[in-house]
Amino acid sequence: MSNFTGAEVYHQEFDPKVFLDRYYQFGSENSWDWYLTFVMKHYCEVFTSGKVKGKTLIDIGTGPTIYQLLSACEAFDEITVSDYADQNREEFEKWLKNEPRAFDWSSTVKYVCELEGDSNKWMEKQEKLRMKCKQYLKCNVLKSNPVDPIILPQGDCIMTSLCLEAACKDHDAYRSALKNITSMLKPGGPLIICGILKNHSYRVGETNFSDLYIEKGFLEEALDEAGFSIDKFDLLKNPKGSGDGREGLEAYFLLAYKMK
Ligand SMILES: C[S@@+](CC[C@H](N)C(=O)[O-])C[C@H]1O[C@@H](n2cnc3c(N)ncnc32)[C@H](O)[C@@H]1O
Repeated sequence: MSNFTGAEVYHQEFDPKVFLDRYYQFGSENSWDWYLTFVMKHYCEVFTSGKVKGKTLIDIGTGPTIYQLLSACEAFDEITVSDYADQNREEFEKWLKNEPRAFDWSSTVKYVCELEGDSNKWMEKQEKLRMKCKQYLKCNVLKSNPVDPIILPQGDCIMTSLCLEAACKDHDAYRSALKNITSMLKPGGPLIICGILKNHSYRVGETNFSDLYIEKGFLEEALDEAGFSIDKFDLLKNPKGSGDGREGLEAYFLLAYKMK
């Protein structure tokens, strides 16, 4: 794909503040709450049901976001987050250190606490997540060991959201990145992937970032080839239709287990 925006473009041009303001002002006109509410309901169900739990969780391509970890922190003791672009780690760390210039996630955290049954616990949850996030590593999903030169023990669970489509220029690269990231997962362990099907690109400020066009069937085949059995694959069509130019998009949430 000629207009593919690879990892170096992320490093040079991805502005985490602009990204957060555009997509993660939960409850505002501007945000894409339809995606967020869909995936956060699924995260809540999976992580609070006792179905997925353990000691170590690794999130790949975390960017500057925390929404994907809010329910997960109830089910895991230690969370490792990771991304290619250093500015995302810096933005994430502002939130971790509760700096005044950090992005305000409070409406998202309150929403997740409400889903989990007690909206009064939102400050407690923020602190819990801050405590459980142990490290933010540099990673490149295109490398066979994405966190090279570090060798991490295999995690009890791997998660990734909106990353592989951004990082991969074609379907072969996606299949290989999927194998790379899942080499970091223990046999039998759960893999949770969320993202958007049938997309081509998304904007962050003035920059257009490529997004690999994938469909449900492709993901099913790629997971099968990587040695996974799918437990849950749920889809939601963008209810906004053509309103914001993202017609036809579908959010997906999938949970699969690495075969032993
Ligand atoms: C659309 S953002 C998603 C961020 C976050 N996970 C979310 O759910 O909003 C895509 C992320 O993938 C990261 N990324 C792009 N190429 C990558 C690569 N080769 N390896 C690791 N991360 C990469 C970017 O830096 C960016 O943070």
